[in-house]
Amino acid sequence: MIEVHALSKHFGSLTAVDEISFTMQPGEVFGLLGPNGAGKSTTIDCISGLIPPSSGQIAIAGNDLIRAPRAAKARLGIVPQEMAIYEDLPVVQNLRYWGSAYGLRGANLADRVADVLEVIGLVDRAHDKPKDFSGGMKRRLNFGCGIVHEPDVLLLDEPTVGVDPQSRERLFDMVRAQIARGACVLYTTHHMEEAETLCNRIAIVDQGRKIAEGTLAELRAQVGERDIITLTGAFAPGHTLDEALPEGVAVLQSEDSRLTLEAEDGPARLATLLDALSQTGAEVRETIVRRPNLESLFLKLTGAELRA
Ligand SMILES: Nc1ncnc2c1ncn2[C@@H]1O[C@H](COP(=O)(O)OP(=O)(O)O)[C@@H](O)[C@H]1O
Ligand SMILES: [Mg+2]
Repeated sequence: MIEVHALSKHFGSLTAVDEISFTMQPGEVFGLLGPNGAGKSTTIDCISGLIPPSSGQIAIAGNDLIRAPRAAKARLGIVPQEMAIYEDLPVVQNLRYWGSAYGLRGANLADRVADVLEVIGLVDRAHDKPKDFSGGMKRRLNFGCGIVHEPDVLLLDEPTVGVDPQSRERLFDMVRAQIARGACVLYTTHHMEEAETLCNRIAIVDQGRKIAEGTLAELRAQVGERDIITLTGAFAPGHTLDEALPEGVAVLQSEDSRLTLEAEDGPARLATLLDALSQTGAEVRETIVRRPNLESLFLKLTGAELRA
């Protein structure tokens, strides 16, 4: 449904997206997971035709975005990170606006608007203006604006930012309902739990580059069975540490105040590890042990925290 080939986008000397490629199949939620500034929104903006790529190709349902932009964009629904709703227009007017922008008219438009109001749970707020709504309600309306015309491909850019847990669950259900009716969804997030919960396949992006891609199981296998141990405190220089570490523990990244290690069976080795460290004169203030997950994969691939 979407083919992105070697997409790059430069802003002056900054490379926001660096040769990213991926394809998306019908019926799947494809996740773009990465920290703020990774290039997720820029990628989405290129696919939606909002900004021109510097290089690379994008095809949507077989239509090249540059050569056949109308055909490529017709089946696309966009739920942008910066919300696309008009705060002073009642909810129904917002939905009608976006429906007619995609060519819906008359009874068809009215039916679709009524459907979407159900889906997003705003039937009894249909004639209210969103300006006084909660973050979750605004996000739901923003989502609704992207699905009025029943797109085959839905681009969701961090659709849960600023929403309460209940609204988030509701948004997840709304995404699943889109899949159930046969659409495919490109879902960006910086929350690994969201990617783990929702996505069939995930591409991990950092500094404009795709650094890993696969199903959750495939990505977990890349981390291996090793736990990630992050220690904060004050540590001795690297080479002394390497020698002091117990068997089965290796350094991923070492800074003066933070040490990131990978370990087989981390919880069981923690006591020995802390003992060994204290003998080097290290002072440990905080200890975090993570089982293998997307966060630890990100840490392993980049040496940085996903949330940083
Ligand atoms: N219009 C722009 N002009 C200049 N730099 C931009 C512009 N849009 C995004 N950037 C930069 O490109 C990088 C990627 O941004 P973005 O795609 O928004 O990341 P993400 O959505 O993953 O947080 C960032 O360094 C950001 O500051
Ligand atoms: Mg973004």
